[in-house]
Amino acid sequence: LFVNFRVVSSVQAMMATVSGIIVVLNCKDVVHDRYWLAVEYVWVVVPYMIYDVYVMYLCHWHKSKDTSEKKHSLASVRSFLEKDRLMVTHHLFILIVLTPVAQYLRGELGDFFVGCIFVAELSTPFVSLGKILMQLKMQDTLLHKVNGILILVTFFLCRILLFPFMYGAYARQVGIPLYMAPFHIPVHCNVANASLIAPQLYWFVLICKKAVRLYGRSPADKNR
Ligand SMILES: *[C@@H]1O[C@H](CO)[C@@H](O)[C@H](O)[C@H]1NC(C)=O
Repeated sequence: LFVNFRVVSSVQAMMATVSGIIVVLNCKDVVHDRYWLAVEYVWVVVPYMIYDVYVMYLCHWHKSKDTSEKKHSLASVRSFLEKDRLMVTHHLFILIVLTPVAQYLRGELGDFFVGCIFVAELSTPFVSLGKILMQLKMQDTLLHKVNGILILVTFFLCRILLFPFMYGAYARQVGIPLYMAPFHIPVHCNVANASLIAPQLYWFVLICKKAVRLYGRSPADKNR
């Protein structure tokens, strides 16, 4: 049922990743160089984020429909906000804080870093495929296991290591050692980076726990 949505989200993710890579490759001076995609692609991200929250709500509503809530109501919206609070906050943070920063407040600086953030979407198609496989009851297939490893690797590289990489790129550009970079940029940049990486770390721990369950299972308790 929600396969279409997963396809849309994967296509968006691949476009974001490709745009991000193009931006990163075209900005040699990571502070001052400009590349138009870093500005224009945000206009794809905004409607997509809104659509994503809406579909998450529909998914939630669909799952809970046969238990208590029969129709869309304030109560069903509230129970959605309670259950998916972190994800909704993450999306709202991007829409309300990061978009104005990326489009207006950062001035002429930092297209490179906007590109880096786009690349974080690389893991999304694998996460989507994993969800589709679960829906098709294919969790015990080799494809699902290989996909699980790809999720772990892409998530770690593009959503966790991305942050030290950005600080490293900045440090190299201005010619300071890496550990000095956080003290060299404005405080709000550190705050923005910290509030982006915090939910990623949390989700990464969840993914690792899932992986331990998936790969740690011996063949004997497969049937449970
Ligand atoms: C994150 O840190 C980098 C590295 O120094 C910085 O240039 C960038 O502006 C920060 N990102 C945000 C969204 O503030």
